[in-house]
Amino acid sequence: MSRYRIAVLPGDGIGPEVTAAAIHVLRAAGDRFGLAFDLSEYPIGAAGVAQHGDPFPTVTAAGVQQADAVLLGAVGDPSLDDAPRHLKPETGLLALRAHLGVYANLRPVAIHSSLAHSSPLRPEKLVGTDMLIVRELTGGLYYGEPRSNDGRVAVNTLRYTCDEIERVTRLAFRAARGRRGKVLSVDKANVLETSQLWRQVVTDVAGDYPEVMLEHIYVDYAAMRLVSDPGSIDVLLTENMFGDILSDEAAVLAGSLGLLPSASLGDGPGLYEPIHGSAPPLAGKDVANPIGAIASAAMLLRHSFGQTEAAAAVEAAIARALAEGARTRDIAQEGESALGTRVMAEWIVSRLP
Ligand code: IPM
Ligand code: MN
Repeated sequence: MSRYRIAVLPGDGIGPEVTAAAIHVLRAAGDRFGLAFDLSEYPIGAAGVAQHGDPFPTVTAAGVQQADAVLLGAVGDPSLDDAPRHLKPETGLLALRAHLGVYANLRPVAIHSSLAHSSPLRPEKLVGTDMLIVRELTGGLYYGEPRSNDGRVAVNTLRYTCDEIERVTRLAFRAARGRRGKVLSVDKANVLETSQLWRQVVTDVAGDYPEVMLEHIYVDYAAMRLVSDPGSIDVLLTENMFGDILSDEAAVLAGSLGLLPSASLGDGPGLYEPIHGSAPPLAGKDVANPIGAIASAAMLLRHSFGQTEAAAAVEAAIARALAEGARTRDIAQEGESALGTRVMAEWIVSRLP
């Protein structure tokens, strides 16, 4: 029996519900594959502010360092919208990412054939859609100094070093090698110096991966390409801010933001979270889609623990539940009845191979 330590950070809004669903499936998969999990829970976001006056409390910072991997729900609470930056839930998430040094954020976007009609795009446009967005996660505008806002003038800094670009690029090329062998690097090199450096470093790194085909495109055209020809994209590599925007756009292809998982990787413990937010209006109602969180747990099994079979089993169970008609509210068509968060998790558990 292999034992693993997981730090669980449920966070805010629907975070606790979808995290509980993910843990339920994780434990069931663990039973099948002989894996035991020691879970420790820590607050983050508004929950951190409520308990410790800090969106990234020191107890959480210490806790995640002790873990083999971190599973996170979501952060964000409207009551803190006007709070100073050091008390915003989002500041807690950015501090966590920096603390773990998770510089590469992997956001896979694949279409479940049974959901092809949930996307506003015509199903024939979606044929072949299976991409991996690799977003740089610990640099760029989110972290650049100086930053300020005196009420009349506001400043943010977009800064990238060669090393920051190189490490995430290598990860994207390694991922492409195990997929369709294509990297689409997205930048704004016609305007921004940081993008010119990005393009130069990506081109240099590509020399070490001759079997991977590299294409550079500007971010405005990438936004169009994502919806006009998504099937042509294999690995999409980009910087922090562009990746934030393009990954929400790509979620439209899958049919719902609630379906998509993510893995954030660095040199220490990995961080796994659904890409959706805390969705305050849905919180506590048992209506949120837990699939993004459950699929994030599958990524955790694969990337942090090397448990490929268990990961594939969870993904297969999600696909089966969807193929057999399991729908939460966000993906139910008119006239279809919707399952709650817990029942959806139950459907997935009972379809584990
Ligand atoms: C995401 C989220 C975060 C981000 C927010 C909550 C800070 O939108 O993970 O995409 O912008 O990175
Ligand atoms: Mn986002």
